Amino acid sequence: MEDPITRRGFLKAAGACASVTLLGTSLLDGVALAAPIGVRRNVGGMSATDPVILTYRKAIKAMQALPVTDPRSWSYQAAIHGTVATPVQTAWNTCEHGSLFFWPWHRMYLYWFERIVRKMAGDCDACWTLPYWDWSSPSQRQLPAMFRDTTSELYVQNRRQAMNDGTGSLPPSYVDYGAAFSAVDFASASASLEGTPHGAVHVGIGGWMGGVNTAAQDPIFYLHHCNIDRLWNLWLAQGGGRSNPLGDANWKTRKSTFFDENGFEVQMTSCQVLRAAEQLNYVYEGEPDQIKQYCERIRLPWVFERVVLIRFPIPPIVLEARPVSVDLSLAEVRGRLPSIARSDTETLFLELEDVEAERPPGIVWEVHLGDRAAAQADGASLLGTLAMFGAGIKSDAHHDPKPARFVFPIRGAALARLASDPAQVPLTFVARGVLVDGKQTEPEPQAPVRIGRVSLVVETRKASST
Ligand code: C2O
Repeated sequence: MEDPITRRGFLKAAGACASVTLLGTSLLDGVALAAPIGVRRNVGGMSATDPVILTYRKAIKAMQALPVTDPRSWSYQAAIHGTVATPVQTAWNTCEHGSLFFWPWHRMYLYWFERIVRKMAGDCDACWTLPYWDWSSPSQRQLPAMFRDTTSELYVQNRRQAMNDGTGSLPPSYVDYGAAFSAVDFASASASLEGTPHGAVHVGIGGWMGGVNTAAQDPIFYLHHCNIDRLWNLWLAQGGGRSNPLGDANWKTRKSTFFDENGFEVQMTSCQVLRAAEQLNYVYEGEPDQIKQYCERIRLPWVFERVVLIRFPIPPIVLEARPVSVDLSLAEVRGRLPSIARSDTETLFLELEDVEAERPPGIVWEVHLGDRAAAQADGASLLGTLAMFGAGIKSDAHHDPKPARFVFPIRGAALARLASDPAQVPLTFVARGVLVDGKQTEPEPQAPVRIGRVSLVVETRKASST
């Protein structure tokens, strides 16, 4: 093995890594390896000839050339996330959606994928790191240009045409993680973020990305999830008692299966992916210091209790191309809402449950607490988006037959409105397609969505005794 100094010299010469001045320690399975820490960079700052991009292309080509039985092949890796192919091989269809494993499972998946890419590209060894696509940044709402080049391994023909030809961009409501970040409880933050922006970006890109069984065949998948993974760090870094669910023994000890760069099966638990820099040897370009949490040293400042305040007695809501509004009667809960709005320890959520579609609708609906006029007017009534991905699509049911659930923290103007003592409040759903040439489009859903249950849930934060 090269010593770290030699390696650093090599990397600098290759110009492939943003920073190799830090030394990190990898603690996988108790083996400590000193290696230069990898910096996962923003794709927004890269040109098509950036070594990170060229290496990725080279690796994709090599992985696509491997037989599908090789766990390092492009199709096997994608099938670990999801596939309809049979017979089902080890670790196929194991992606985690709608559970507390959403963040850790995808972190593990990216980690092993990154190691395979390094090996497959051959020329870059430990230096290649997965770039991230920061779609929230107003200058990066289009699919990154090198993924639109039809001659590149990064190109996938079946994406939404506007995303592929560069006219399309993701609307602000698709990429807003403010609601998710306001949640202090891990379960609420993860559930909220999994819907918006995670699911909305999947649907916005469309094609393979739009379905859980095909998503990871698109090379942009890994950059999308790299950003989701970065947001895990950023969510924690906000502090305020935010923590991983370290009191949950199953979350900490359950093993997930992957393959390493030599094709050998490996297993991992959430406890092995809590501290990205220390355990997995990477940081994100521009991120604040990573919060270090330890499975053995648990200090949970809060415990969270969730109580359904009201389940609205309304018939199922059907979402189609035209906006729909339903009136939610608040008569029963009027006494409670003002005090929740004033409270520091109580948070109100809108929950949509039993959400199903026969097929992927291919579009996203904005969810507003307000009428249609308010929904058109400004962002103040916006709670988030409803994007079907990962659950609730019956045609994908072999993978995940459970209906989808969406969690929306109610904050700001929407919360003030509820607290102002109205007898009822309209809930409005507006179909929202990607922007084309910066303008709104009229999206046509390929299938309607049915929402079975609508509730208000109060989450109370209490001092923990651990
Ligand atoms: Cu497991 Cu974004 O999907």
